Amino acid sequence: MARAAAYPDKMNPIGNSVGYDIRPIQPDDRDRMIGLFNHLSPHSRYLRFAHAVSQLPDDFLEDILHLDYKNELALVAVIQTKNLSEEIIGIARYVSLPSEHTCEFSLSVSDDYTHQGIGTHLMQSLIRSAKENGLKKMLGYVLHSNTKMLQLVVDLGFEIQQPKLEASPDFKTVSILL
Ligand SMILES: CC(C)(COP(=O)(O)OP(=O)(O)OC[C@H]1O[C@@H](n2cnc3c(N)ncnc32)[C@H](O)[C@@H]1OP(=O)(O)O)[C@@H](O)C(=O)NCCC(=O)NCCS
Repeated sequence: MARAAAYPDKMNPIGNSVGYDIRPIQPDDRDRMIGLFNHLSPHSRYLRFAHAVSQLPDDFLEDILHLDYKNELALVAVIQTKNLSEEIIGIARYVSLPSEHTCEFSLSVSDDYTHQGIGTHLMQSLIRSAKENGLKKMLGYVLHSNTKMLQLVVDLGFEIQQPKLEASPDFKTVSILL
């Protein structure tokens, strides 16, 4: 299986005010991922997972920590803490779908660090990586009520699809050609 080492250790962020780096997730990020989850309010968790989640499920953690970095990739935004360890403050992930060259994204930023461009920056990096990995289309399902996320992806060039009749009325599908 490919490892994170296939990527540069760091990507240089542009225009960030809190001094974070964006890097691929690593298998030893388990505690840092739990830390990020603990910095999401119940409402933010609901917006991300579309249902109430009080604890990150073990199988979710196992999946996200062991990706092949091509068909599935997660990028994390990290800051250095005072004791020189890392804290994850945001994550963007894509998972390839069975339909050829298409992937589905998800995004979360710690409630302590929103409105600083980190979510946008993570998505820009994720889009770039998906293109480099040969994917042609990225899509996502965003709750109708999540106007902030809808605006974020529209600003990045995503289109909001007309809902299909059989689709859930709670979600909007957004997509972009890569
Ligand atoms: C939605 C979410 C990912 C946005 O993350 P974020 O890091 O706050 O996103 P950004 O900072 O890039 O953009 C958000 C807003 O901050 C603004 N902004 C960006 N940089 C800024 C800066 N330096 N100073 C002030 N505002 C800034 C953006 O213009 C945008 O404004 P808008 O909401 O009026 O359009 C985050 O709130 C979150 O994790 N929510 C819960 C989970 C979720 O909804 N996930 C999506 C489901 S797939």
